[in-house]
Amino acid sequence: MTTLVTTVTETLRYRGKIGQWSWVLHRLSGLGTVLFLILHVIDTSWAAFYPDEYAKAIAQYQSPLFTIGEFGLVACVVYHAFNGLRIILFDWRPEWWAYQQRAARIVFALTILVLLPTFALMLGHVIDYYDGDPDPASLTDIIETQSQFALGFVVIVTAALVLSALYGVITRQGAGFELPGRLEATLWSFMRLSGVLILPLVFGHLAMMHVIQGVFDITGSGIEVVGTDIVNQSGQAVEFVGARWDMLVAGVAIWRVYDAVLLALVVVHGFNGLRYVVNDYAHHPVVNRALNWALVFGMVALIVLGAAALIAGVDNTAQQIAIDMNASASP
Ligand code: HEM
Ligand code: HEM
Repeated sequence: MTTLVTTVTETLRYRGKIGQWSWVLHRLSGLGTVLFLILHVIDTSWAAFYPDEYAKAIAQYQSPLFTIGEFGLVACVVYHAFNGLRIILFDWRPEWWAYQQRAARIVFALTILVLLPTFALMLGHVIDYYDGDPDPASLTDIIETQSQFALGFVVIVTAALVLSALYGVITRQGAGFELPGRLEATLWSFMRLSGVLILPLVFGHLAMMHVIQGVFDITGSGIEVVGTDIVNQSGQAVEFVGARWDMLVAGVAIWRVYDAVLLALVVVHGFNGLRYVVNDYAHHPVVNRALNWALVFGMVALIVLGAAALIAGVDNTAQQIAIDMNASASP
């Protein structure tokens, strides 16, 4: 905790110029994206397992609060991706270090250059949606749903703290969580390799969900679902996901394969990044061990849940629930 306070105060005080701000923004943008990802994988699994809950989640994504968050999320991903490439490049060619300040400026310029047209296109979707006089989810509904995620987080961390304290008492183990040196080095390389692979996948995903179609088109009835030749008849979010996951190209469900690769890479990259942050600030052995255990548990649970949804898919029952919901909602 003291280390966290020191980081915040020293960041504001220390005049390390652009390199220091790049480090802060890289960390914050990575944390923001991974936080969204946790909610997103859980929400998306509901398309397969709880279709009515998925409908509510997407309705909340379409509210003004989430729309602001959506712009922030896209900014985080774009900045983190370009700055990540800069880090990878300088780790690969340390002799280019002399140009690092210029490279950091190029990263900011590129981010703005990409964000300006992207935001303009996203704004187009937002304006179209609000022209239709929608009835967005209320703030109370959003707080109610999101507080369940916060409660889940508190339960997992508390359970990990209790187990870690017990483990310390039983084994008299005084050290925090440590990985073998070779695994640590492999993970360092994985962060770089996965970063390069994630970039086209996550940019492609965001292009489909924010630019070509918007978050609002997920519930557009009679609209061809992005990346498929299937029309969303009911205008229900689960039908949108079902269409994407059932789209076959040469017998292969390409968006399921795409999502599976994206899921594995972003979850391991994001959670290992979270581990770096935790290890920078949590030095007490019981807390350090507990948070690392919680991260390993969270990472495995998220991959299993995301993969289970991809395997289960959106079956006819879920589609029917969606169509029935639509029918009962229409006057
Ligand atoms: C508000 C922004 C986003 C929206 C509206 C969105 C929408 C969706 C939708 C509709 C799906 C269902 C399957 C599909 O259509 O392919 C999905 C799946 C997925 N998305 Fe996103 N996405 C967003 C941002 C992101 C970001 C930033 C990431 C990565 C950091 C991400 C990672 C994933 C993954 C891994 C899956 C597969 C989940 C699973 O296996 O159950 N998404 N997304
Ligand atoms: C889009 C392509 C991406 C690239 C090129 C990239 C690259 C990188 C690199 C090079 C690092 C530094 C690793 C180290 O210090 O050893 C890093 C850290 C991190 N990344 Fe990414 N990344 C990408 C996407 C993502 C996504 C989608 C997430 C969230 C799910 C994420 C979350 C993080 C976190 C939390 C850290 C740790 C930050 C810190 O230690 O300050 N990254 N990334």
